[in-house]
Amino acid sequence: MPSNKIQFRVSPGGRLSGRLRVPGDKSISHRSIMLGALAEGITRVSGFLEGEDSLATLKAFRAMGVEIDGPKQGSVIIQGVGMHGLVRPDEPLDLGNSGTAMRLMAGLLAGQGLDLTLVGDVSLSGRPMKRVTVPLVEMGARIETTDKGTAPLHIKPVNRLRAIDYPMPVASAQVKSCVLLAGLYADGETCVSEPALTRDHTERMLRGFGYAVRREGSRVCINGGGTLKACDIDVPADISSAAFFLVGASIAEGSDLTLEHVGMNPTRDGVINILRLMGANIEVSNRREVGGEPVADLRVRAAPLKGIRIPEDQVPLAIDEFPVLFVAAACADGETVLTGAEELRVKESDRIQTMADGLRILGVDARPTPDGIAIRGGSIGGGQVDSHGDHRIAMAFTIAALRANGEIRVDDCANVNTSFPRFVELAAGVGAQVSAHDV
Ligand code: S3P
Repeated sequence: MPSNKIQFRVSPGGRLSGRLRVPGDKSISHRSIMLGALAEGITRVSGFLEGEDSLATLKAFRAMGVEIDGPKQGSVIIQGVGMHGLVRPDEPLDLGNSGTAMRLMAGLLAGQGLDLTLVGDVSLSGRPMKRVTVPLVEMGARIETTDKGTAPLHIKPVNRLRAIDYPMPVASAQVKSCVLLAGLYADGETCVSEPALTRDHTERMLRGFGYAVRREGSRVCINGGGTLKACDIDVPADISSAAFFLVGASIAEGSDLTLEHVGMNPTRDGVINILRLMGANIEVSNRREVGGEPVADLRVRAAPLKGIRIPEDQVPLAIDEFPVLFVAAACADGETVLTGAEELRVKESDRIQTMADGLRILGVDARPTPDGIAIRGGSIGGGQVDSHGDHRIAMAFTIAALRANGEIRVDDCANVNTSFPRFVELAAGVGAQVSAHDV
């Protein structure tokens, strides 16, 4: 049977050197389309991530009547339609693999007075959506999941939403953003409290569009009924994509790599904090701010890593970087222990199990637990591992080959295009010995 699947083949060894700008931040790219679409005026975005996830958001807004030019070399021009200018799409909105698109759009669309259906691919259709529909229903939305609490999501028109004060049971920026975006359409002040700090791109970007957002400690509040004013957005390089190279250059002897224009939002920099605790040599320079987001250049040189107990307050700040951090742990001296990270089980794949399975195939001592993993550093062997269609797993095992003693083959890698188009080319350009094959 033709499977039409992509396999990465990575020769062992090598080192990473030179300079590299990884593609634009995925979280910020999604939000630029969403807020630009609802704004009054023209929003110009540069550095937009031309990956499948953010393109799914772009197409969804086009299908709701928003004129969007591009992307052309990262540049996108959005003709905002205002808070109430979206129109009902002819077909269900297909959000592919993107949890961010589905969860944020559920909130943004709940109060539009439109009849809509949101669908996704097999992975997205297995991910929990009650975490967003429960607070939205509390706000008066009519939104339904399947009996299992998964997509498709059916949204029915309602006249108005009411503000809520929502204590989030999970530390999720997607849930926080969903409720705040619904809050734009609610009567009164909507507040969300987070059990741990999560990424704050929605809050920063709302302010950039001239919309007041109030933060008091762990509580974020927004008043409904305002308007968004178009603005220009310069999307930083995605720290989650840079993370593969931060780890790669740390573990591959002789590496010296500079990553340019990387987003350094303090709600996203857990990967740097964790790697430094492990002994990584990461130098930050040229700190500046673009469109309300801090960026910097990062120079990484190879360094011996040691195993650590990962502080739990870093977990939400590095939530997407654990697959590659597990590779760092596999190369470290001693044991690394992660706890408090059960959320990893409901990402694009069950990232604890998928990584543990792959690492074990490569001969690494990796012991999964319900909310984390324990990994003892040692040597990494060659072998064939399955990414389960999860982009970050595929890229993490590609990086592992830098320290392996045999070839690593990674199956089911097409979804790398959801977040990191041209990964193979860029990785090969700085020294990874990777190629992609149709199998
Ligand atoms: C994201 C938030 C995170 C992250 C995802 C992007 C966002 O999810 O894993 O890749 O853009 O808000 P959770 O907030 O659900 O942890």
